[in-house]
Amino acid sequence: MRRIALANQKGGVAKTTTAINLGACLAELGKKVLLIDLDPQANLSSWMGVGSESTERSIYHVLLGEAELKEVLTDSKVKGLWLAPATVELAGAEKILANEVGRDIILKQKLDHLVEDYDYLFMDCPPSLGIITINALTAAREVFIPVETKILALNGLVTLINTIQLVKERLNPSLEVTGIIACMFDSRTNLSREVVEKLRARFDKIVFKTLIRDSVRLAECPISGLPIHLYAPGSHGAEDYMNLAKEIIGGEKERPTCK
Ligand SMILES: Nc1ncnc2c1ncn2[C@@H]1O[C@H](COP(=O)(O)OP(=O)(O)OP(=O)(O)O)[C@@H](O)[C@H]1O
Ligand SMILES: [Mg+2]
Repeated sequence: MRRIALANQKGGVAKTTTAINLGACLAELGKKVLLIDLDPQANLSSWMGVGSESTERSIYHVLLGEAELKEVLTDSKVKGLWLAPATVELAGAEKILANEVGRDIILKQKLDHLVEDYDYLFMDCPPSLGIITINALTAAREVFIPVETKILALNGLVTLINTIQLVKERLNPSLEVTGIIACMFDSRTNLSREVVEKLRARFDKIVFKTLIRDSVRLAECPISGLPIHLYAPGSHGAEDYMNLAKEIIGGEKERPTCK
């Protein structure tokens, strides 16, 4: 199982959009995918139709040691795609966990107990570098960083990469950034092209070749309760996330160690 954190402390860069649509495309290609919603905004859970009222047990209870991961999993409209949902309650978790011994390794331990195996696990992180994101980085083996290409925000990226480096040194030696996903790409603007060029110059091969284009369909998609390939098949968004899924699967042949 590839354990991947989708992280960027910057808000609104398409972490959640990537979690559901990339996850759904990989499932469509026959893979078993588990998504973990680690954001108190619970955007991923509401997108997947898991409302707070219907969710008795969520990732909040897992982090607080009151439930096992398998007890909170729900399936979805897409075959092969599973979700560990979040609710707004999760907003209180950081405060409660602040004084816990071993607070950074809780999610890792819970994942190690998960008997069921998936091909991919994606953790949708909140837009902060707090305890929850550190738990994700400790539980993950890889980090994918979605980056908005409409603005040049490489400073924020450096902060994130420094944090990942610290987690690697102190908590999780096997952690690597294995993918940077250029999102909201607008080929009509010089800025988008410049951002991608700068990312490639700085991070080279870990920037995925597939660019996720700016797409109204993707922006509309969350209210439909469906991933993009079901909401707007044939749209740029559906095409781009499917190409990204294929690029990821294709890359495994070249890098067998990432399994
Ligand atoms: N390729 C795209 N084209 C157009 N709109 C997009 C695209 N990707 C994401 N969006 C929109 O941008 C907004 C932010 O996306 P999203 O919620 O996925 O980001 P996020 O990084 O998860 O945000 P947060 O940090 O708040 O969790 C959403 O309104 C989403 O619909
Ligand atoms: Mg999000």
